[in-house]
Amino acid sequence: MTQPRKKRVLSGMRSTGKLHLGNYVGALANWVKMQDEHECYFCVADWHALTTDYADTSQVKQNSIDVLLDWLAAGLDPARCVMFIQSHVPDHAVLHLLLSMITPLGWLERVPTYKEQQENITGKDLSTYGFLGYPVLMTSDILLYKADFVPVGEDQAAHVELTREIARRFNNFYGKNAPVFPEPQTVLTPAPKLHGTDGRKMSKSYGNTIMLTDPEPVVRQKLKTMVTDPARVRRTDPGNPDVCPVGDLHKIFSDATTNEKVNVGCRSAGIGCIECKSWAADALVNILNPMQERRKKYEENPRLAWDILENGSEQARKNAGATMDEVRDAMGMSLKLDG
Ligand code: TRP
Ligand code: SF4
Repeated sequence: MTQPRKKRVLSGMRSTGKLHLGNYVGALANWVKMQDEHECYFCVADWHALTTDYADTSQVKQNSIDVLLDWLAAGLDPARCVMFIQSHVPDHAVLHLLLSMITPLGWLERVPTYKEQQENITGKDLSTYGFLGYPVLMTSDILLYKADFVPVGEDQAAHVELTREIARRFNNFYGKNAPVFPEPQTVLTPAPKLHGTDGRKMSKSYGNTIMLTDPEPVVRQKLKTMVTDPARVRRTDPGNPDVCPVGDLHKIFSDATTNEKVNVGCRSAGIGCIECKSWAADALVNILNPMQERRKKYEENPRLAWDILENGSEQARKNAGATMDEVRDAMGMSLKLDG
């Protein structure tokens, strides 16, 4: 019996530099798991980085390298997935152009992140053609590989929904005989949102992150200053790990025994926050250490990492090229005389 075709996964991250624990829990950890079940493509979206930072491109390349190193550190494995860089697979731009022809302006203006970011991000000029087209570029990333699944955080779900609508519209126009693009499904990361050291959502722009590259003393120091259950003012006040950012860290990274100790000890004021935080730091150091070990190998020899991206991009170009042949056929624009 022939095996059914493996489902295909595509996801990506913008080139924004080194990743933090929130990026790991919110996406990367899930990707690492998916490598064994599916045929996976992961895209370093460096063109997407330009949609908000087009004037100064001096950091884009280094940011792409940093993202890649963190992927490799976290356990993405070139033998089990394809890692590639968007700007070196030109068909992303070609498909983006064709899809831009069929995408109604109203669909883009209605994407929630569009207005939100225009209102909330000050100091950046977001009134460009490229920024409006951000979700169309993302759609091209996804459809070029005919992805079945797109693992993303909740903030990206509206973009994948738009991808489905654009795929449907394309198939309606040009896929009368057979649909060209499958409508991809969003796979939401099961992990809860991670809080930063100040208790707000962990985010680079808040300066409250724990980075995957933070050395042990930095992790311990950041934990020391992390906010806790605000009701626990004195050592003798009982607390509640369910409303404490440190409690959340335990739930994600500590074993059952530690979680039990935290739960009982916090609620009865049997343990102090300092002790509790040191256990959380232990758990973090435990998962970050092996990542940092792995990262070292590539940091010392960046060529190794770059080769992975080059090989991945070559593989991606082949897949993308095959899809573009089908796209041209479906649109009646191939050079075949009978097509
Ligand atoms: N827009 C995504 C983000 O900001 C990154 C991204 C680019 C992406 N291309 C993608 C995610 C394709 C999923 C699929 O996080
Ligand atoms: Fe948070 Fe731990 Fe302090 Fe409880 S004991 S409030 S879980 S840091």
